[in-house]
Amino acid sequence: MLPLLSKQSYQLRLLEMASLPCRFLTPVLKQSSVPTSLVSLERRLMKAKSSISLQTFLIASIEVLGWVVYHFSMGKHRKEKILVVDDEETIRKSLKMILEYEGYQFYEAADGEQALNTIEETVGLDLVLLDVKLPGMSGLEVLGELDKKPYSPEVIMISGHGTVQTAVEATKLGAFDFLEKPLHRERVLISIRNALNQTKLLNECKDLRKKANKRYELIGNHPSMKQLWNEILKLAPTNATILIFGESGTGKELIARAIHSHSLRAKDPFIQVNCAAIPEELIESELFGHVKGAFTGATEKKLGKFELADGGTIFLDEVGDMSLKTQAKVLRVLEEGEVQKVGSSKIGKVDVRVIAATNKDLEKEIQENYFREDLYFRLNVVPLYSPALREKKEDIPLLIEYFSQLIAADNNFKLKNFSADAVQAMMKYPWKGNIRQLKNVIERLIVSIDGNTIERKHLPEEIRGEIRIYLPDAKGIKNLKEFRDLAEKEFILSKLRENNWNISQTARAIDTPRSNLYKKLEQYGIKIKAGVGEVVAPSSTQSREGEESPNSKGQDGR
Ligand SMILES: Nc1ncnc2c1ncn2[C@@H]1O[C@H](COP(=O)(O)OP(=O)(O)OP(=O)(O)O)[C@@H](O)[C@H]1O
Ligand SMILES: [Mg+2]
Repeated sequence: MLPLLSKQSYQLRLLEMASLPCRFLTPVLKQSSVPTSLVSLERRLMKAKSSISLQTFLIASIEVLGWVVYHFSMGKHRKEKILVVDDEETIRKSLKMILEYEGYQFYEAADGEQALNTIEETVGLDLVLLDVKLPGMSGLEVLGELDKKPYSPEVIMISGHGTVQTAVEATKLGAFDFLEKPLHRERVLISIRNALNQTKLLNECKDLRKKANKRYELIGNHPSMKQLWNEILKLAPTNATILIFGESGTGKELIARAIHSHSLRAKDPFIQVNCAAIPEELIESELFGHVKGAFTGATEKKLGKFELADGGTIFLDEVGDMSLKTQAKVLRVLEEGEVQKVGSSKIGKVDVRVIAATNKDLEKEIQENYFREDLYFRLNVVPLYSPALREKKEDIPLLIEYFSQLIAADNNFKLKNFSADAVQAMMKYPWKGNIRQLKNVIERLIVSIDGNTIERKHLPEEIRGEIRIYLPDAKGIKNLKEFRDLAEKEFILSKLRENNWNISQTARAIDTPRSNLYKKLEQYGIKIKAGVGEVVAPSSTQSREGEESPNSKGQDGR
C-alpha cells in the first residue's frame, strides 16, 4: 500500500534503500581489492533514478546480498599478514603506509631475532619482506633458519647492496623474489601479489592432493587386510612386478595405488591403463606412442603410457583382456625395458615398475590359449590376492561409516547413520559386486532416504533378507506333486538366501538333515558356488537377483 507517497517519491525512497548498502559496502570492498561490482550497480541505480520500480529494487537488493555472501564466504575479509624486517625505521614506516592502504595487516621487526620471534608467534603470517643487511643476524641467516622449518611463510628479500651473488644465495634458500632499494611502490606490490598467489596455489594444490589421496584410502581391519598391508609395505620399496588378482570391485586399483604411493617412486607418475577399455587397434599406440604420420589420423606425435610412466609405475588394469599381439609387445618391455613407438624404427629405454591386475583366472586363460604363459610368469613375480568382501564381512560396519562420511562430504549432506539392524542385514548379504557394490548401495540410500537414520526397512529387498516366497500360479500346474515341488523349491531358495547360502545353517533352520537338503538341491538344480546360489537346471522357477553367476559384475555395471 502506497497511499501517502506519490509514485516518484516512492521510487526515490526505493532507490535510496537499494543504494544505501552499496554506498556502505563499496569502500570496504575497494579496500580489500574485490572487483567492485557494487560500484557499477550503484551507478546503474543512479541512472535509473527516476524510474526505479519494485522489481529493480528487489533485483538490486538480491545483488547486494549476493555480494555480501560471496565476499564473506570467500574469506575476502581476511587481511593477509605481512611482516617487514628492516633496521631502517623510515623504510618500515613507508612500507606500513603502503601495505595498510592496500588492505594488508602490517607487522614489523627491526632485526633478525625479533623477526624470528614474530614469525614464531604470529598465527597465519603470509609473507615476510626481509632486508639482507641487519644488525646481528643477517637477512640470509634468518632465511636459512626459516628454510629449516617445515612450515614457513614466503619471503621476499630486500637490499640496498644487491649483488647477483646475494640474490642467487637467497633464491637457493627459497626466497621468492629479490627487491633492490630504493623500493618502488608498484614493483613491491606486484612482487607481494605474486608471492601471495603462489602460496595460495601451493596450498590449494596440497589440499587437492590430500583430498585425492583420501579417495584412494584402502580401508579395512580384517586380518586379511592387515596381512595385505604388510605385504604392500614390504613390496612397495622394491621394483618387483606385481600381479593383483581378485574379484571385481575388491579394490585392486587401490592396492596398486597404495604400492606406488609407498614406493620410492611415489613422487613420479602413476599411470593407469585399462587394457579392456582400449580397442585392439589403438592399444599399441596407447602403450608405446606413435610418431607423426604413423597411420591415418596420426597428425601429431603421441607419447605412450610407458613413456609417461618413466621413473614411476604403470598399472596394467584388466591385463587378462589384452590381445595376444599386445601381450607380445608388453612382454618385450618387461624383458628389455625397451619401447618402440608405432611408426618409428628407434628403440627407447624406460625405467618403469609394472603392476598388473585381473579378475580373470589367468591359468585357465593360458590353457585356452588366450594368455601367453611367458607373460604370465613375467607379471606374476609376486602375486597379491585382493579378498572378496564376503571373506571379510567384519569390515562392513567400518566401510559403511567410511563411505557415509565420504558421500555426505561430497554431496554436502548431513551425515546419516545406519541403524544396528540395517548394518547386521548388510553384513549377512553376499556382496557379489564387493566393495564397489556396497559403496553404490550406500550412496543410493544416502541420497534417496530422508531423515538422519537409514533403517533396515530402507534397504533393498534382497539385502534386507526378507524375500517373500512366491507361490506358484496354480493355473498352469497339472497336479498336486508339481505344485508341491515348485513350492518346496521356492521355500528352500528363500531359506538358503536368508542363511547366506550356508547349507548346514539352512538345514538346521528348516529342521531337515543336511543329506536331505543336498538331495533337494540336486533335485531342483540349485548349485552353490563361492557362497552364492545359482539355479542351473531348467526349471519353471526363474533364477532371481542374488542367484546370477558369481562372475557377474558389480551394481555400477562394470
Ligand atoms: N578397502 C577399501 N577401502 C575403501 N574403498 C575401497 C576398498 N576397496 C575398494 N574400494 C572402493 O571400491 C571401488 C572399487 O575398487 P577398485 O576399482 O579398486 O576395484 P577393482 O578390484 O579394481 O575392480 P575391477 O576389477 O572391477 O576393476 C572403488 O570406488 C574403491 O574406492
Ligand atoms: Mg580395477
